[in-house]
Amino acid sequence: MNTKYRKTIIAGNWKMNMLVSDIKPFIEELKPLLPKVKTCDTVLCVPAVNVPAMIRAGKEAKIACGTQDVSCHDKGAYTGEISAAQIADVGAKFCIVGHSERRAYHNETDLDVNCKAKKLLEHGVSPIICVGESLEQREAGLTMSHINYQVRAALAGIDAAGLRRCVIAYEPIWAIGTGKTATAEQAEEVCGEIRSIVREIYGARPARSISILYGGSMNAKNAAELLAMPDIDGGLIGGASLKPADFATIIAATGAENE
Ligand code: PGA
Repeated sequence: MNTKYRKTIIAGNWKMNMLVSDIKPFIEELKPLLPKVKTCDTVLCVPAVNVPAMIRAGKEAKIACGTQDVSCHDKGAYTGEISAAQIADVGAKFCIVGHSERRAYHNETDLDVNCKAKKLLEHGVSPIICVGESLEQREAGLTMSHINYQVRAALAGIDAAGLRRCVIAYEPIWAIGTGKTATAEQAEEVCGEIRSIVREIYGARPARSISILYGGSMNAKNAAELLAMPDIDGGLIGGASLKPADFATIIAATGAENE
């Protein structure tokens, strides 16, 4: 983290978990466990149907609400899809785009990811853009070229003002939901590379200010070590964000350097 220049963000990704009735008890349990001094922005990205309940429940605990996908289209005959205008309308402030599960199970392409990010920006919602390599790509030495391609494709046509609202999450596919976390050095190496790519496209200042998160089996035990890395500005957390105590420990880990 480098809190002088950029925001630290801890974002939970609830994926397809939790019911509306689970939200209030979750927040009630989380609230007393949160650090007294706020040392990061906290977001929970929930299924779209749970957004209003999360906004209501999260207000007092200062937890922003995000969701997990958006349509590339503005409006019209796209059964089942949810537009950026609708996401903004219900009050979600963030939306994950390009998660590897959507790329894998819904054939989402880099072009889709770019289009979705732009639609969100048009409506004032911050995209959390996910990039990450597969195990095969890592083993073949293709990590950096793959990340380079994904980041450039996702940001194509987004101007500097748009970039200021973007968050990038590095999520190695082999680390997601597997319990196999990237080492702090591996994660830092790629997050640093992402910052260099942003620097090449937008210049030094935007690169210094963008928050780059790590995601992939981040948990209560390994969060502090990952967050101590200079280019890791927070986490995108799946499994551990479903447990109030673990999520609170990760949030508290962002304050370690203030103690
Ligand atoms: P995980 O998921 O923390 O359960 O590995 C992370 C993610 O998919 O965003």
